[in-house]
Amino acid sequence: MKKYNCLVIMFLLSLTCFAQGNTHTQGYGKFEGLAMTPPMGWNSWNTFETNIDEKLVKETADIMVSTGMAAAGYNYIVLDDGWMAKERDENGNLVPDPAKFPSGMKALVDYVHGKGLKFGLYNCAGTQTCAGYPGTRGYEYQDARFYASLEIDYLKYDWCNTAGINAPEAYATMSNALKTAGRPIVFSLCEWGDNKPWEWGKPIGNLWRISGDIYPCFDCEFHHEEGNWSSWGFMKIVEMRKDIRKFSGPDHWNDFDMMEVGDGMTNTEDKTHFTMWSMLASPLIAGNDFRKMSKETLAILTNKALIAVNQDKLGIQGFKFSEEEGVEVWVKPLFDGNWAIAFLNRTDGPKKINFDWKKNPIKDIDFGFEADFNKTIFKIKELWENKEAGTTKKNFIADIASHDVIVLKLIK
Ligand code: GLA
Repeated sequence: MKKYNCLVIMFLLSLTCFAQGNTHTQGYGKFEGLAMTPPMGWNSWNTFETNIDEKLVKETADIMVSTGMAAAGYNYIVLDDGWMAKERDENGNLVPDPAKFPSGMKALVDYVHGKGLKFGLYNCAGTQTCAGYPGTRGYEYQDARFYASLEIDYLKYDWCNTAGINAPEAYATMSNALKTAGRPIVFSLCEWGDNKPWEWGKPIGNLWRISGDIYPCFDCEFHHEEGNWSSWGFMKIVEMRKDIRKFSGPDHWNDFDMMEVGDGMTNTEDKTHFTMWSMLASPLIAGNDFRKMSKETLAILTNKALIAVNQDKLGIQGFKFSEEEGVEVWVKPLFDGNWAIAFLNRTDGPKKINFDWKKNPIKDIDFGFEADFNKTIFKIKELWENKEAGTTKKNFIADIASHDVIVLKLIK
C-alpha cells in the first residue's frame, strides 16, 4: 500500500512539473498587442549617430511635448547606438556611458516617463554593435533583465557582427529573454531584411526593418567606401520592398526605417517622404534635431490627416496601383471602407494629372478590398491642402510639381 501511495505521489508530482514546464514554454513569444498601430517616436541615430547624451534626450522629450508632437501621437524616445561604455562591468553587465549620462540611465528613463513619454534603447544580436560597443551575443537574458530594471519600453535590436549566427534563432532568443524578464517591451528587429524577417518575425517582434539604412535624398544610393555598403534614398526603400505588404499588419509592421524629414531634403520631398511612410503603414520614427526644427518640418511631422492614414486601425500597407510617365498612384484601404490615394511625381519636372475614376476600379488582391467607382461614388478630401475636392463622379484633374505628392481621402 505504501508503495502504491508513493507511486501516486510521484505521478502527481510529475504532472505538476509537466504543467510548470508547459506554462514556461507557453510564455515564449513576443509581448502581444504593444504596437497595434505603427509605433511613433524619435530615434537619435540619423542626426546624432553616437554623439548623444542626457541633455539631448531631455531637450528632445521637452520639445516633443511642447510642440504638440506628443499630442499628435509621437511617444517613443529611442537612444540608438553609442549609449554604452566600451566595456561591460566585472559582472558582465552593460554600463551606460557615465560621461554621456552622468545622472544614470534610470534617472533619464524616469524623466522621459515623467513627461508622459516612453523610452527605448538599442543593442545588437552580434558580439559588438555596429559602432563597436558591447553586443548582446551570449548575454541575452542578463541584458533583458537590465532593460527591465531600467523600465524601458522599446528595444531596437541590430544585426552587426553576427557572422555565423542564425537570424531567426538569435531574434527568438532575445524575444524570449525579454518575455522572461517580464517587462512589456516593444521588440524592434533591425536585421535590414537580409534573412526575410517578414517571414518569421511575427511571433518574435512587433516590427522589423526591411532594408539597409535610409539616406536623406529622394532616390539616390549613397555608397560608403569604408565597409563597402550603401544607404538608400527613401524612394529606393519604397521600391525595394513594395511586394511584401501582406506580411505587415497590426503588431507586426514592415519598418521602412527612421525618417529623414527635416534632415536636408526640400520641404516638398519631406512631404512626399512622410506621405509614403503614412501610405505604407511604416513606423513613424522621426530622426531630426528637434531643437533646430523649422515650422515647415513640424507641420509635416504633425499633419493630423496623414498621421490618421498611417495609424488607421485596419493596419494595411498601401500598394502601387499604377505608374504612367513618372506619375505613380499609391492606394491604401482604410477602416470603414474609405481609401487613401497618393499621386506622386517621380520626375524632375511638373506633370498634369487627369484621373478617370470610372476607368480605374481598385482591387487589393492581398487583402480582398475593392472600390468600383461605377458602383460607388466617394467624396474626395485633399489631405495636405485640407479641402474638399468634389466626388469620384468627375475625373480628378490637378497639376503636380516635381517630387511632390497629392493625397486624397475617398470617403464613402
Ligand atoms: C545600423 C542600423 C542603423 C543604426 C546603426 C547604429 O546601421 O541599421 O539604423 O542603428 O546601425 O550603429
